[in-house]
Amino acid sequence: RSAPLVLGIETSCDETGIGIVRGRTLLSNTIASSMDEHARYGGVVPEVAARAHLEALQPAIRAALAEASVSLHDLDAVAVTSGPGLAGALMVGIGAAKALAVSLGKPLYAVNHLVGHIAADILDADAGPLQYPTVALLVSGGHTSLLLVRDLTGDVELLGETVDDAAGEAFDKVARILGLPYPGGPEIDRAAASGDPAAIRFPRGLSRASDMARHRYDFSFSGLKTAVARWIEQREAAGERVPVADVAASFREAVVDVLVTKALDACAQHDVPRLLLGGGVVANRRLRDVALARAAEAGVSVRIPPLRLCTDNGAMIAALAADLIASGRRPSTLAFGADSTLPV
Ligand code: KG4
Ligand code: ZN
Repeated sequence: RSAPLVLGIETSCDETGIGIVRGRTLLSNTIASSMDEHARYGGVVPEVAARAHLEALQPAIRAALAEASVSLHDLDAVAVTSGPGLAGALMVGIGAAKALAVSLGKPLYAVNHLVGHIAADILDADAGPLQYPTVALLVSGGHTSLLLVRDLTGDVELLGETVDDAAGEAFDKVARILGLPYPGGPEIDRAAASGDPAAIRFPRGLSRASDMARHRYDFSFSGLKTAVARWIEQREAAGERVPVADVAASFREAVVDVLVTKALDACAQHDVPRLLLGGGVVANRRLRDVALARAAEAGVSVRIPPLRLCTDNGAMIAALAADLIASGRRPSTLAFGADSTLPV
């Protein structure tokens, strides 16, 4: 019996992602983003995202089917993100997935978005099979989580997460303070290229000895954002020029340092020599470089899926469902809804 053909629907934030896989083989990965519509608000507006999903879903499904050269009737299962994410945005994808599954008479799998990010890695054919256990660091505009993955289909443990802003959100907010457009991550990356990362020592959140007992693997970026704002205010009050490149480089260094330090600490403490990165912030050149260099020193191997699989997409949702099917998992009943805080 051949591997299952699965269509995955992802609508937890601002990307409408439709992916089709056959087992662990990627057939299509269509992504429509409402990012431009959120730009003037400086962040994702839930109501705007939900409406955009409704408009983008059907064309995206059609495009994904065409790209994969399959028809709806060929599908063996439908998969959808049921959380965590924006409730209204999730509901649009869930409604579409239920309608498809019921009308086609196919099984439906509700899956966890964060575990989906980890599953993106199994579609990276060049990387070889994902080995267990592995520590996963997921960093995007919506989440910053550190996970211990013993088995994708049943044993994923949340080690820690942000207690306030997500890492990408911090990039977006600091970009705004610096007068740079949204999304701020790529803008800060660009501005930082000519700056000195050691120019200003910005705080590393939850990194004090006293934080280790309760927040060893948690992150906090709102204090960092405030520190950047204060530093700039003081400069301006003194009538001095703000060195944008140095501020961007020093801010980026603080974020990257704390992300990599905690991820490698988790590897060391749990005796896991493997680290997987995922989420849109993985686009950050400095994060990739520092993670690769410090992991090599620590004897940890690093896996980074191609960027199109790191940002939110439907292929990772389909891939996770295909693995769940292969492991014998029963489909979901139709009773599930959106769970904006769904645990792993
Ligand atoms: O995963 P993603 O595409 O979407 C969601 O968060 O749902 O991630 C987008 C986030 C934004 O906050 C954006 O500013 C950030 O990733 N980002 C970056 C870079 N490129 C995108 N952050 C830092 N450096 C980058 N080069
Ligand atoms: Zn995500």
